[in-house]
Amino acid sequence: MSADIVRTAAAARYLDLLKRTLTFTLWPEPLCPIEHLNEDRTLLKRAAVRLLASTLRHTGSGYQLARDPKPTWDDRRDGRTWPYYADTMMGLTRLEHLQHCVETVLREAIPGDLIETGVWRGGGCILMRGVLAAYGITDRTVYVADSFRGFPPIEQAQDSGDLPNESRAYLAVGLETVRENFRRYGLLDEQVVFLEGWFKVTLPKAPFEQLSILRLDGDMYGSTMDALTALYPKLAPGGFCIVDDYGAIDACKQAVTDYRAAHGITADICEIDWTAVYWRAAGGS
Ligand SMILES: C[S@@+](CC[C@H](N)C(=O)[O-])C[C@H]1O[C@@H](n2cnc3c(N)ncnc32)[C@H](O)[C@@H]1O
Repeated sequence: MSADIVRTAAAARYLDLLKRTLTFTLWPEPLCPIEHLNEDRTLLKRAAVRLLASTLRHTGSGYQLARDPKPTWDDRRDGRTWPYYADTMMGLTRLEHLQHCVETVLREAIPGDLIETGVWRGGGCILMRGVLAAYGITDRTVYVADSFRGFPPIEQAQDSGDLPNESRAYLAVGLETVRENFRRYGLLDEQVVFLEGWFKVTLPKAPFEQLSILRLDGDMYGSTMDALTALYPKLAPGGFCIVDDYGAIDACKQAVTDYRAAHGITADICEIDWTAVYWRAAGGS
């Protein structure tokens, strides 16, 4: 595995532009279709919005109803909203940190591939592949693990409370769409491998020996636990375990707490932003 990386101004500028593009923060947030995340409204308003929007669409006029989601700059930096246009739900802070993690494992020659479990539109994995490309790294692979059809049925008691249908649909992004997103950024190649299916099926038989970056973003207790159980034993000493939903979702935090307690993991948990945390696997320098 490669060690020396040279942070040229060109690489820094490319990665900066990539992060701004992935988060859509390069542009002011445009209006979004009025039916996006319609479930914030009352039942009656929701039905009216759906009817109006679909009537307009069917006229073929090219017009649509839109609303101004008005995210603040802080919301966008912190990844606090469910974006309509961005290719990741992470804000800039989490992407900055992810870049830092990848650069650190390259600089410190921590061996292993990179994975995100729970990718949505793929933006986090696109950034990881972009960092490898920026430094000319050809001996590591980015694994992109998702059902590509949204969340699994709830199996664990800790995961009480189902999502409304519109949220479920929004969170279900198909494999072809994610592949196309990588292609749009010029980053779809043999260093990107998709693991399609439920984590409990795909992750135990994932085809890598070792990981340097393990990024968990499956939200649920079951999804977080399935990913930790299958993958944490493969995390190299000094590798990064990043948990996106630790602060925001109690069930996710509980899975992390239970797994760490069961396996005697005592590494300090460090805050990335208002929800995401990380720690480094024991044994690194
Ligand atoms: C919050 S989104 C991930 C956001 C993404 N990391 C980003 O940067 O925008 C959660 C994703 O986890 C996936 N997911 C959750 N539990 C899963 C499971 N048990 N198996 C497969 N995919 C799962 C969903 O399909 C969804 O794409």
